[in-house]
Amino acid sequence: MRIGILTSGGDCPALNAVIRGFGKYVFENAPDSKIFGIADGYGGLINGEYGEMKKSDFSGILNIGGTILGTSRQPFKQMLTEVDNTTKVAKMKENYKKMKLDCLVTLGGAGTHKSAALLSSEGLNVVGLPKTIDNDIFGTDVTFGFHSAVDIATECIDRLHTTAASHGRTILCEIMGNKVGWLTLYAGIAGGADVILLPELPFDRDKVADCVYRRAKSGKAFSIIAVAEGALYDFEAKMKKKERAAERMKRGVDGTITKELADYIAQKAGVDTRVVVPGHIQRGGSPSPYDRLISTQVGAYAAELVLQGIYGVTVAIKGDSVCYNKLSDIAGKSKTVPADHPYIRTGESIGISFGI
Ligand code: F6P
Repeated sequence: MRIGILTSGGDCPALNAVIRGFGKYVFENAPDSKIFGIADGYGGLINGEYGEMKKSDFSGILNIGGTILGTSRQPFKQMLTEVDNTTKVAKMKENYKKMKLDCLVTLGGAGTHKSAALLSSEGLNVVGLPKTIDNDIFGTDVTFGFHSAVDIATECIDRLHTTAASHGRTILCEIMGNKVGWLTLYAGIAGGADVILLPELPFDRDKVADCVYRRAKSGKAFSIIAVAEGALYDFEAKMKKKERAAERMKRGVDGTITKELADYIAQKAGVDTRVVVPGHIQRGGSPSPYDRLISTQVGAYAAELVLQGIYGVTVAIKGDSVCYNKLSDIAGKSKTVPADHPYIRTGESIGISFGI
């Protein structure tokens, strides 16, 4: 069996742990197989950049962050765009054939899955794996990389507590997650944030300022606010993405609202505010033990699917078990935080404000 493997989209901890689980299963159960590591995501398949991986390539990488294969972002909307009489999809099909692959294994997030579904509909044998710190892939309880990022973001909030308390400041910590609030919700609760702002719950900035003001009045001179990078005001909720961006530009906001909100709170609540953006630190470094565990599990399971000839699917985690979903069933869908999520209810029950 000839297998191509690639990692696509933003990296995260545990990609290598999945690659390892996959390779070890293959060499254990079908030792005559050949695995080809494709460089830099779909980019490597488009440009024919790959190399055969030895058994030893799958050792010693369990705890190493990033991806040994490299990655890149290849926007889905450009996949079928014609340039010089060809498309990226056509090139990928050509190289898949040239490499004489029996299947392609893709580790990636929502965008990667859309492209994987497209390649599958074009006749390639594809097995996907759910990667992302955003935890937004439809049909799986959890994605690998998410819990490591929760650990990192929680530590950031922990560290902000001591400096915020010492100075009596309100610190807004902007947390990654693209358009969803999973990472902010988990790290916000685990880090003991006083206010948690999620894209799924457009918020009233006066309620946030009021919460900070009341805390200050009651003798709590500091506040910690966990703001998802995709968080939005209630008055922005009905706007389309482009309209919202244009409105923000008019207010001098290029990107997220965190800084604007910090200034608003400072003026409304009469407190000293600071903004901290941990950014890509949340995607860096070693995977957590939990991520290593589920990554080994999903990597091995993906190999099992490949060896059984089950294609056009992506691996999903349900509780302690693994299963698969059809790529065509999950591509283009997103798993968002439901407004009645139990952790939101818990947060509210102990006085955390969600600004609503
Ligand atoms: O999808 C993972 C993620 O880290 C998001 O949380 C974030 O919005 C985005 O990627 C950042 O992308 P880039 O690495 O291209 O700056």
